[in-house]
Amino acid sequence: MFKKETYIARREQLRKDIGHGLIIIPGNHEAPCNYKDNTYWFRQDSTFLYFFGLQREDLVGVLDCDSGKDYIFANDYDIDDIIWTGPLPSVKELAASVGVDNSGDLKDLAEYCCKTVAESRRVHYIPPYRSDITRQLSELLGIKYAAVNRYASMDLILACVKQRAVKSAEEIEEIEKAIATAYNMHVGAMKMAMPGRYEYELAGFMEGEAWKGNGPVSFPVIMTVHGETLHNHGHNNRLEVGRMLVMDAGCETAMNYCSDITRSVPVGGRFNDRQRSIYQIVLDANLEAARVTRPGITYKEVHQAASRVLAQGYKDLGILKGNVDDIVAAGAHSLLMPHGLGHMMGLDVHDMENYGQINVGYDNETRPSEQFGLGSLRCGRRLLPGYVITDEPGCYFIPALIDKWHAEGTCKDFVNFDELEKWKDFGGIRIEDDILVTDNGCRVLGKPIPKTIAEIEQVMNN
Ligand code: GLY
Ligand code: MN
Ligand code: MN
Repeated sequence: MFKKETYIARREQLRKDIGHGLIIIPGNHEAPCNYKDNTYWFRQDSTFLYFFGLQREDLVGVLDCDSGKDYIFANDYDIDDIIWTGPLPSVKELAASVGVDNSGDLKDLAEYCCKTVAESRRVHYIPPYRSDITRQLSELLGIKYAAVNRYASMDLILACVKQRAVKSAEEIEEIEKAIATAYNMHVGAMKMAMPGRYEYELAGFMEGEAWKGNGPVSFPVIMTVHGETLHNHGHNNRLEVGRMLVMDAGCETAMNYCSDITRSVPVGGRFNDRQRSIYQIVLDANLEAARVTRPGITYKEVHQAASRVLAQGYKDLGILKGNVDDIVAAGAHSLLMPHGLGHMMGLDVHDMENYGQINVGYDNETRPSEQFGLGSLRCGRRLLPGYVITDEPGCYFIPALIDKWHAEGTCKDFVNFDELEKWKDFGGIRIEDDILVTDNGCRVLGKPIPKTIAEIEQVMNN
């Protein structure tokens, strides 16, 4: 946990931004895996973590904007729990540890909510993403289950985005801890990427390294020689020379701040000519994005700057043809990168996306595109100092997509389909860093993880 003053200040700001009414921030419950007491790893809700910092299950945080009082509600453990769990702090003690003076049990919470509704005071909550929390809000507020999301508070969503998007120095320090662990995950796996090994051995190694950093992985590890499938979660392939191995993995710190890093390496440790040429194009796009990222630019513009580098590279290879700006305007390069350049990152690996991607990745002035590829950009908004975003261009030869575009003649003035046929067995490459927007540019966060062709070959052959 950060010191309690951090959480006090965050809650004060939120109450001020919302002005009137009651803000309810439910923490998560345990989630049973196959029977009640065999649960998945507990993950606290990130909004709750941001404002209350507490890791216990079943807590509910309440901010009363009219009285200025904050509350934690939950039932205390009794001896029947404690014989299994050992001694645990009371709800009152937990509340005090994060500067909350008021606490109560779940019956008190129900009464408080009833009274608030009876007084016709506005109640603010974030749209829930778990059915148990939807049911809890439905019962507390007397709203039908199916209507809970409809009554969620856009004011609260926007106030939370405003605060959480700009990371403080202590948050950056946590994110860099998560990247330090990701360094160990990635460099260790690079050294293991030798023929005869299986993807699951490397994926398992990465999970172990994440736990050595005292947290889980921040999303299921992507470790695949079929990187052309963007989020390939299968791990059963044997590594063979000639394949590129895409490793997209990060971890959470004990406080749940995330890292999200991708490296792509040639199995066996030496790039062949084809791998070298595609890798360098993607790396140049990744570097171009970091070169132009600064406050005031939109991430949509950064995506397009990286796209021009990709288009130029494919044109030089003979895969695309025509004027680079025309290629990018038509979206022809998206055949080889059907996703966006990046997303925000923080307490969630895709930070705050439970608030609705449009509310987080876009602002009033910047709207999502409808074009294939650019339309998948998760973050297109104008950047401010303190934003943490991923810079993750890629190149994917997706046979089914290539065949579809070819058959339909999509972007046929810009795509050399005969040349592209030769690349359909290549697989994919992605390179991903986590970057911080600074006052006059940006900084790639964390200890640098080998990224150039020379650095990767050096690590893999040592
Ligand atoms: N790890 C998923 C992503 O890079 O967005
Ligand atoms: Mn990733
Ligand atoms: Mn990412």
